[in-house]
Amino acid sequence: MAKKLILAYSGGLDTSVALHWLTQERGYDVVALTVDVGLDSDRAAIEKRALATGAVGFHWVDAREDFIRFFAFPALAAGALYQGRYPLATALARPLIAKIMVDVAREESAEAVGHGCTGKGNDQVRFDVSTQALAPDLEIVAPLREWDMRTRQSEIDYALKHKIDVPVTKESPYSIDENLWGRSCESGLLEDPWQEPPEDVFAWTKSMDEAPDEPRYIEIGFERGIPVSLDGEQIDGVSLVGQLNSLAGEHGIGRIDHLEDRLVGIKSREIYEAPAAVTLHSAHRALERMTLSKAQLRMKTSIAQEYAQLIYDGLWFTGHHQDLASYVQSTQRHVTGVTRLRLHKGQATAVGTKSPRSLYATALATYEEGDQYDQSAAQGFIHVWGLPVRVQAQAQLLSQPDEPLHIASAEPQDSPN
Ligand code: ARG
Repeated sequence: MAKKLILAYSGGLDTSVALHWLTQERGYDVVALTVDVGLDSDRAAIEKRALATGAVGFHWVDAREDFIRFFAFPALAAGALYQGRYPLATALARPLIAKIMVDVAREESAEAVGHGCTGKGNDQVRFDVSTQALAPDLEIVAPLREWDMRTRQSEIDYALKHKIDVPVTKESPYSIDENLWGRSCESGLLEDPWQEPPEDVFAWTKSMDEAPDEPRYIEIGFERGIPVSLDGEQIDGVSLVGQLNSLAGEHGIGRIDHLEDRLVGIKSREIYEAPAAVTLHSAHRALERMTLSKAQLRMKTSIAQEYAQLIYDGLWFTGHHQDLASYVQSTQRHVTGVTRLRLHKGQATAVGTKSPRSLYATALATYEEGDQYDQSAAQGFIHVWGLPVRVQAQAQLLSQPDEPLHIASAEPQDSPN
C-alpha cells in the first residue's frame, strides 16, 4: 500500500505541481489540506483542483479564529515586530498550519507531511521545526527543495506537460503570501533594492495620493491587552481585523518596505501590507504607555524583540516561548482601556487614551491650579540622585586636567584606511 502524505495545499502553481510530483514521482497517496487563515479564496475550486491533480482526499480547515486568538493577538500583546517593523503575518501562520497538518496526519493515519516551501526561505524552517516539535515521527517532504525545477517557468512547463489545471488568471509577477494579519510580497522588480516598489505591488492599501484628504477617527477598546471593541461596539477578533484592514487600508496605512534578514542568512526585500496589525500595534502601544510603569515599559521593549525573533525563527513550540508568553500575559493585566486613533495619509496616530487603570495623574502633571506635586521636595531628591555623579567628577574627571570633559567629539575621525 502507498504511504499517505498530508500536503499543505493552497491551490497555486507550486503546491499543485508538488501534489502531482509527490503522487507520480514519489508514489505517495496525497491528501490535500487547505488551512483558511483569511485566504479569501474559493473553497470549491481549490478542492476540485486538488482532486483533479491526483489527491486521494481533501480537507479544508477554517482556522481564522484560532489564528487571531492564539497567534496574532498574543503577538500584538507582546509588541512583536521583527526588526522593529514586520508584524509577522506569514511567520505567525506557519506554526498553526503545521499543527493542523499534524492533527490531520493523525486523523488520516498518515506517515508523512509535505509543504511547498523552497529551500531558501524562512517558511520551510517554521514548518519543519514546528512539525518536529509536535510529531517527531512524521516524515517531512518538501518537493521544491528536492526537484530540479528552479524557475517558475519550468514549473509551468511541468504543469502543461502533465495537464495540471493551474489558475490561468494573469500571474502576479511577485511571490505573495497573505492572511488576516497581513500580506507579504517579494521577488520580481522588488529584488532591486534601489527600485521604488511599483504601485501594482499593493492590493490592500491606497497610495498616499489616493487616500482621502479627510482623516477618519476610530476608537479601539482593549481588555487585558486584547482588542475587544471598535467605536464602542464589542466585536470578535476576526471581524475586527477584517474591518480594520479595509478601514485603515483605505487611508494607506500599513505599507512596509523592508530589507530584512532571513533566518537562512540572506538579506531580502519584502513589501508588506498590514493595515489592521499596524493600527492595532499603534493603539496597543499607546495604551501601554498609560498603564505600564517606566520599568515595565523598558523591560517589555526587550521582551518584544526577543518574542518577535522567536516567531520569525520558527520557535513557536518551545519552552522559551512559554516563558516569554507568561511574562507578556502578566504585563497585560491592567492594559485595559480605549485608544482613539486618527487614520490619515498612511498614519494611524494615537491621539487619545483613557483607562480605568491609568497611571497618568493630572494632579501631578499639571502646571495649572490643583497641582499636588511638591516642588520643594525635588531639591533633596536631586541632592541624593546626583551624589555618585559628584563623587566621580571630583575624583576622576575634574582632578585630572587631561581627562576630556567632552567625552565624544562630533568631528569626523580619520578613517583607518
Ligand atoms: N519574509 C517573510 C517571512 O519570512 C514573508 C515570506 C512570505 N513569502 C512570500 N512569498 N512573500 O515571514
